[in-house]
Amino acid sequence: MQNATSANTDSLLTGQVLHFDGNPFEQGQQAAKVERRGAVLIRDGKILDSGATERLVAEYPTAQRVDYGDHLILPGFVDAHVHYPQTGIIASWGKRLIDWLNSYTFPEEMRFADRSYADEIAERYLDLTLSHGTTTMASYCTIHPESVDAFFTAAQQRGQRVIAGKTCMDRDTAPAGLRDTAQSAYDDSKALLDRWHGVDRLSYAITPRFSPTSTPEQLRALGALWGEHPEVLMQTHLSEQVDEIEWVKSLYPGARDYLDTYEAYGLLRPGGLFGHAIHLEPRERDRLREVEAALIHCPTSNTFIGSGLFDMDGLSRAGHRIGLATDTGGGSSFSMLRTMASAYEVAQLRHRPLHAAELLYLATAGSAHALRMGDKIGNITPGMEADLVVLDLASTPDIAQRASQADDIWEAVFPTLMMGDDRAIHSVWINGSCRKAVD
Ligand code: GUN
Ligand code: ZN
Repeated sequence: MQNATSANTDSLLTGQVLHFDGNPFEQGQQAAKVERRGAVLIRDGKILDSGATERLVAEYPTAQRVDYGDHLILPGFVDAHVHYPQTGIIASWGKRLIDWLNSYTFPEEMRFADRSYADEIAERYLDLTLSHGTTTMASYCTIHPESVDAFFTAAQQRGQRVIAGKTCMDRDTAPAGLRDTAQSAYDDSKALLDRWHGVDRLSYAITPRFSPTSTPEQLRALGALWGEHPEVLMQTHLSEQVDEIEWVKSLYPGARDYLDTYEAYGLLRPGGLFGHAIHLEPRERDRLREVEAALIHCPTSNTFIGSGLFDMDGLSRAGHRIGLATDTGGGSSFSMLRTMASAYEVAQLRHRPLHAAELLYLATAGSAHALRMGDKIGNITPGMEADLVVLDLASTPDIAQRASQADDIWEAVFPTLMMGDDRAIHSVWINGSCRKAVD
């Protein structure tokens, strides 16, 4: 029964409601369930109940009803790998990874020494991603501790669950002006972790950019920090481009493979997030699987920068923990809808058509599981935090005419996954409050 106080704050959202009973990669599309006349009851920022509209309307008669008609209510999107400081250089032309970093990324990241610029871009990034329905992201910051403070401050004010960390680089492969040291990376990361981790909905991630821009001493120092704080995540890049892998071999001649440059220094554990992970050796696959580290698929980035085709079929069959991400701004979009479309296209090139239920799983519960937050976000079940997206499945004439011919919900939702943009994001709820609403 409700008590009078909480009843005042209850919101009852009605529409078509999607939730996951399991993992569609393991159990098939039936692991994703859509209640055609469904409802979600939100109280104090959490999902208290969900199910058939009729039952919830009867059980919570005083809740404030928000009727979304035939729109699809689903968990907010979880973007498992982004660089918020690259917002301003998204869609930069003509370079592959190493040249792209040197030409566009590093000069832009230098600007984050200025706290007011970091504040401005953090707000801009969170505004843009809100309009695209992303409620949680794991973001790299820059080497400047202020860039981490800026991001966490902005996310905290918005009540968002986010993960972020100071990007560490101490090798002369990174430009002067964008370098720390092994000791300062340890000290700054530790201070930021102590300041922010576990505050409200914020989590810290230890963030060596990638082994080519760190010395072994820095990797060892960050591995030691992680050993002291195994409760936090660690995010980095792995085997994105063939040229990069050759470079890693030349910088770490004693390493068995790229993954070994992390493993040797204490940076391979559960809670590791490895962005891209395209060109993996058999040993690397086995070790990543054994430790249950997460692989983060960044399809728009992998095509945009010309990196390669992630092996979704092989890696999901082998039981890897896989998240989906935009990789803003190596990725060419802020939108997880566009990212699902790209994941579909990349998998098609490897002869594995991903089902709409699998794509939606990757963008919500799958990424949440990769980030080890699957008990808090990424699904619509009682006890989960109330981060929700409401999708208009007929947001443009081209999508509407295709959806109108659909025989089932998956055929109705697929055109929005392939062709949708921020116009399809009708509403976004964060922590139980409506933050974007279109009428
Ligand atoms: N590898 C190291 N840094 C980066 C980055 O900022 N973006 C991408 N896509 N790959 C990287
Ligand atoms: Zn990245």
